[in-house]
Amino acid sequence: MSKKFTSKSGKNIILRYVEKGDAGELCRYINELSKEDTFIRFSGETVEIKDEEEYLNKQIELFHNNDSVSIIAVYNNQIIAYSSVDRDFVNKKRSLHTASMGLSVSKEYREDGVGRKLMSSIISEAGKHISGLKLIKLTVFSINTRAKSLYESLGFVECGRMPGGILFHGEYIDEISMYLKV
Ligand SMILES: CC(C)(COP(=O)(O)OP(=O)(O)OC[C@H]1O[C@@H](n2cnc3c(N)ncnc32)[C@H](O)[C@@H]1OP(=O)(O)O)[C@@H](O)C(=O)NCCC(=O)NCCS
Repeated sequence: MSKKFTSKSGKNIILRYVEKGDAGELCRYINELSKEDTFIRFSGETVEIKDEEEYLNKQIELFHNNDSVSIIAVYNNQIIAYSSVDRDFVNKKRSLHTASMGLSVSKEYREDGVGRKLMSSIISEAGKHISGLKLIKLTVFSINTRAKSLYESLGFVECGRMPGGILFHGEYIDEISMYLKV
């Protein structure tokens, strides 16, 4: 899958599946987000290139087994957004019809329609590619109103809240669970 779209501000952006050669650029991307200390699980840790290569190889293997899809948005040869949907193996056969989703956009490219476009593409690709998929799950920090309203607008429904489940900038905030039936 590789497709182009024009962002709200007129940037020509490519959406495509990840490839082996993306490890270096993906590593730069995640480290930039980690340093920003935003609404993702990384909060300042540095990801080493060998760990990123290992992660990427695993994602590609899962993709070939119809268990995962990972899509990047590329602008001027730079990764500006990343999303993946990964089958949930945690409860063995009992959770194989479900998959977890993650999404992020690089700071300077936010609020330009990239997150919405990437997310609607990955929902459609996950439905086609992940065999037997029935539910996409995600969690969002309660104060992340932008992400939560984007998810709701794409059909996600809130189904739970872990009070104080996340330590964010020194405060314990709620973690919200959401799902989408596919
Ligand atoms: C959340 C995130 C993925 C959204 O991506 P994005 O490219 O900025 O979002 P988009 O521009 O596609 O769209 C966001 C939508 O939310 C709306 N929005 C923006 N700020 C908002 C707010 N504070 N409250 C409600 N809606 C808001 C926008 O108007 C837009 O709606 P529209 O398409 O109807 O105009 C991105 O901002 C991001 O990566 N943030 C940091 C990391 C993060 O939060 N990741 C998600 C973890 S769960």
